[in-house]
Amino acid sequence: MKKSLRIGIAGLGNVGTGVVKVIQKHGRDLELRSGRKISIVAVSARSRKKQRAVKLSAYEWVNDPLDLVNHQGIDVIVELMGGAEGAAYDLVVAALMAGKHVVTANKALLAHHGHELALLAEKQKVSLYFEGSVAGGIPAIKALREGFAANDVECVRGILNGTCNYILTEMRETGRDFKDVLKEAQAKGYAEADPSFDVDGIDAAHKLSLLTSLAFGVKPDIGKVETTGISHITATDIKHATELGYRIKLLGMCRRLGAQIIQSVEPCLVPEQSALGAVNGVLNAVQVEGDFVGQGWLVGRGAGEGPTASAVVADLIDIARGHHVPVFGIPAKTMKAGKWVSADALTGHFYMHVIVKDQPGMLAKIAEILRDHKVSVEAVIQRGRDPGKPVSIVMTTHKVRQADLRKAAHMIGKLPLVSGKPCVMRIEQV
Ligand SMILES: NC(=O)c1ccc[n+]([C@@H]2O[C@H](COP(=O)([O-])OP(=O)(O)OC[C@H]3O[C@@H](n4cnc5c(N)ncnc54)[C@H](OP(=O)(O)O)[C@@H]3O)[C@@H](O)[C@H]2O)c1
Repeated sequence: MKKSLRIGIAGLGNVGTGVVKVIQKHGRDLELRSGRKISIVAVSARSRKKQRAVKLSAYEWVNDPLDLVNHQGIDVIVELMGGAEGAAYDLVVAALMAGKHVVTANKALLAHHGHELALLAEKQKVSLYFEGSVAGGIPAIKALREGFAANDVECVRGILNGTCNYILTEMRETGRDFKDVLKEAQAKGYAEADPSFDVDGIDAAHKLSLLTSLAFGVKPDIGKVETTGISHITATDIKHATELGYRIKLLGMCRRLGAQIIQSVEPCLVPEQSALGAVNGVLNAVQVEGDFVGQGWLVGRGAGEGPTASAVVADLIDIARGHHVPVFGIPAKTMKAGKWVSADALTGHFYMHVIVKDQPGMLAKIAEILRDHKVSVEAVIQRGRDPGKPVSIVMTTHKVRQADLRKAAHMIGKLPLVSGKPCVMRIEQV
């Protein structure tokens, strides 16, 4: 047997504790699979006094995570503190500079500094692995970087945030509104006290930017992900989408359009019977379309202690085996800035929900605006007739340019009897 792979863990929260548990429980099997033992040498967190759900007495404690880097007996730094800047960034840079491998689950760090860190890791000839940062236990990174590496990828779609998927699923199953379901999700621990990172789509955007880099060999660019959250989705939207045979999902999507690339995170309709339509609750999914492989699917638990720790330890096994690949699948110095284009360049079918005061001629006015913007309507649902009261008009379109539909929706939103902005969502034929 080779000498053991010696690790130092910075961060003993949900994921860090999970990693300790996996290594303590499966030590012997990990040794057989890796060809060497994976040994925790030292750990670090903010508070030494905090009660943790694992026994740590066998490991050295260091107060400053940077001391893990200076420790002569450590080969790999496992960064599980979180945050795009500060302690996590300083630790990862210091570790790579010192020629130590790094494993992290920190999507914010990689989304903001991925290319710079990849350049440094490759210069230092060490690994920087981040499987836990996207879709938790689902091996989406490895699949794109290695399993699908023979293909030209056309498109990647993902349900990348379990909190949003849980909320949308609950809204559909119970008919309740967003705010009500969010409150319950917070009480159950599925949503943070400040949920904006999840429900505004930022977390999914971080993850998508990494999938884009792996799929298309471009530098991660979080600033170029068009991001819309789910807080404007109403129980009525969910009900109408269901009646039309669709599910509403917060979809992360990156797609090639000629030489350009679209990156978007937004609520979309997907057919109820499709593979993505069947991904409910806190589950995540990633779908890859490649020129030789066709469509490939990965589904599973996208967050939480167990799934994320499983991904982090899988990265450690790769390092222990001596499996070394470029951080984003191609040498970092060959990665270019993406040529980005807005999702408005897409053509497709759309859903639009408008709330209007029921007055004669309203539908005709809306139809006129749509016609002027070359939007042709496929189906219309108008529920209830109560003169002077608000009613919902829901329509689906034939194939149109997203830009045209958005302009039309903007004009419709300005009509005096229309209340609020029309809700527009793309129908993704997955
Ligand atoms: N939770 C998930 O389901 C999940 C899924 C995928 C990816 N991730 C990523 O995994 C990482 C960790 O997430 P988590 O949920 O485990 O977070 P967490 O529960 O908040 O734990 C963070 C840990 O880092 C320690 N820490 C924070 N700042 C520190 C500092 N300046 N110096 C030393 N230690 C510090 C904390 O110490 P104390 O315990 O002493 O406060 C805590 O142990 C994040 O990047 C997150 O985005 C999480």
